[in-house]
Amino acid sequence: MKFTIYTTLCAVFATAVVAQDFSGSGQIYVINNTDWKTATPDQSIGCLDARGSFSEDNCATFTKLGVYPNTLSTSVGNCSFTDSTQPANTDNAYGSHSYAWHCRPSFSATVTDSFYTIKGLPYPFLCHGDSNCFFDVKNLPTRNVTMPAWEYIWGSKQTSIPAGHTQVMFYWQKTA
Ligand SMILES: *[C@@H]1O[C@H](CO)[C@@H](O)[C@H](O)[C@H]1NC(C)=O
Ligand SMILES: *[C@@H]1O[C@H](CO)[C@@H](O)[C@H](O)[C@H]1NC(C)=O
Ligand SMILES: *[C@@H]1O[C@H](CO)[C@@H](O)[C@H](O)[C@H]1NC(C)=O
Repeated sequence: MKFTIYTTLCAVFATAVVAQDFSGSGQIYVINNTDWKTATPDQSIGCLDARGSFSEDNCATFTKLGVYPNTLSTSVGNCSFTDSTQPANTDNAYGSHSYAWHCRPSFSATVTDSFYTIKGLPYPFLCHGDSNCFFDVKNLPTRNVTMPAWEYIWGSKQTSIPAGHTQVMFYWQKTA
């Protein structure tokens, strides 16, 4: 799976045309597509709120720290996938310690919490960790109920998204 992703990224680099601007402040939309070439912002199925949860339309403003470790925060605090108070992705064979993204007060983010984008993609889609530009959601949010958003993790025991989940991308819509 990783090999496939690297191959895809190399193909993207080879046809790079547009520089991406993942900086300043922006909103993060959840895009229901897994193909770099065809994914567009209008495939949004929701966005991330100030706590980092998957929301129907309560789209928070995220600010990217302009210095190392270049992490993201909201009005609530710094955001991370490491908060063990959050629901784990237990449908995934590797998910018992994979927690929903969460922004919280008094949390000091580290470089492992940072995101990056890949130059040459048509839009600034966010990636995290080791060439992982996909995320995992299970249930869709409703007007009043948010849902967890996890990293997409895979390996020999979990070669695709868990049944009933949706593999998604995060799109950065810069606002400032
Ligand atoms: C995501 O897209 C697929 C393929 O177009 C579709 O079958 C599925 O229902 C969509 N999921 C959501 C949550 O919108
Ligand atoms: C958020 O994380 C950054 C980077 O580690 C840190 O400089 C900042 O103090 C943190 N904010 C809070 C409220 O802990
Ligand atoms: C959702 O929230 C609105 C107002 O914020 C409220 O009027 C409505 O009853 C809530 N719906 C449910 C199903 O809780």
